[in-house]
Amino acid sequence: MSALTIFNFSDPVTSPPASHPSQDGPDRPIPAVLGADLEVPVKGGRLVPYANLDYAASAPCLEPVSAAVAAALPAYSSVHRGAGYASQLTTARYEQARHTVRAFTGSRPDDSVIFTRNTTDATNLLARCLPAGTTVVVFDTEHHAALLPWADAVRLPPPAFPGEAVRAADEALAGIGGPALLVVTAASNVTGELWPIAALAHIAHRHGARVLVDAAQFVPHRRLNLTALDLDYVVFSGHKLYAPFGTGALVGRGDWLSRAEPYLRGGGAVRAVDGDGDHWHDDPEARHEAGTPNVLGAIALAAACDALTATGWNALVREEERLLGRLRAGLADVEGVRELSLWGPGHPRVGIVSFVVDGFTAREVAETLSGEYGIGVRDGKFCAHPFVRHLLGGNDGGNGGCEDGTASAVRASIGIGTSDEHVDRLIEALRKLAARR
Ligand SMILES: Cc1ncc(COP(=O)(O)O)c(C=O)c1O
Repeated sequence: MSALTIFNFSDPVTSPPASHPSQDGPDRPIPAVLGADLEVPVKGGRLVPYANLDYAASAPCLEPVSAAVAAALPAYSSVHRGAGYASQLTTARYEQARHTVRAFTGSRPDDSVIFTRNTTDATNLLARCLPAGTTVVVFDTEHHAALLPWADAVRLPPPAFPGEAVRAADEALAGIGGPALLVVTAASNVTGELWPIAALAHIAHRHGARVLVDAAQFVPHRRLNLTALDLDYVVFSGHKLYAPFGTGALVGRGDWLSRAEPYLRGGGAVRAVDGDGDHWHDDPEARHEAGTPNVLGAIALAAACDALTATGWNALVREEERLLGRLRAGLADVEGVRELSLWGPGHPRVGIVSFVVDGFTAREVAETLSGEYGIGVRDGKFCAHPFVRHLLGGNDGGNGGCEDGTASAVRASIGIGTSDEHVDRLIEALRKLAARR
């Protein structure tokens, strides 16, 4: 019996929730996250409910994700190589997770979905698969995961407005003779601002280039449709998508992938090893997923995709916009707090806000919020050093104190499970802190 013979049977782990609506269809209640009742110690030893405002780093686990993993565990077994029933079942679940991720990203039927460890792993995988002589063009505003994997890249400075991003990409890609790849984020991990990825893909294709979109901060907040946007590759991480089980994905065109050296050399990637040498699989998924994959991570990732889709993006976006509006209005109202932005306060963004507080280092702010109020935020340069330096005007603006002694900021980020009380507690804490100056 092959894995496919049991592939279509009704499986409580891989079957999407009943009456799965279309992505923009009728709303269902937003699912809960684990840890909503977590209490943390603050100064004096008191316990207070944790206000997690650090979703952009890692989001908490959705309850349906945890349930899917728990349901899969009793039958957990090896994939792709066992004849036993549990192995067949686990293989079916793993491959079903691939289909789910393909649907979630709106990918073309022939796109590859390769499970990776995270976004960083996915960009590095693609970097290893570029045809010889590929020119990579990347904005300095990128997260290091998208900025650094390329041996040599054309780096574009932060554009002053979205149209300038398109113009700069157009200019950089013009006249490149060989293969080219434009790398751009869909939503900034520093400011939350949305990038004009459809226009950038259009320009890239006019020059015969491909586009890789870093969707790590986009997919937890907005519906992605790779086909409609005409993207070539997208990458993202499960742990930012409410599925913290160590899996991410590279989704996109298979041709470069099937011609490249296997990312890892080992079992699963090879068809045969004999006197004539090693015969690698052409199928990109097998070729680049050598070794035993993180099956539970893939099941978790797929469960998160299903849960968000089933909830409906209208409901998710509406609630996030409401909370984000409350957060940004509150920050704007605290004297001495300045929000960071590349394209101005009116530019659309996801639930991520970075800011500085006059007279305090970012570390002082973050430590006060945690130690006195039980609020978790991130401080530093968020693995986007050139961008944060740019936003802070190339100096520390009186807000130094990052681990490398240069400019840094505070980042508050929200998602499913964030409440009005979390937001209000942050604003009140900042108001009191600012008043100490
Ligand atoms: C926009 C963006 N890209 C890439 C990454 C890297 O993700 P990971 O650490 O999961 O590889 C992050 C993580 O913060 C991110 O925000």
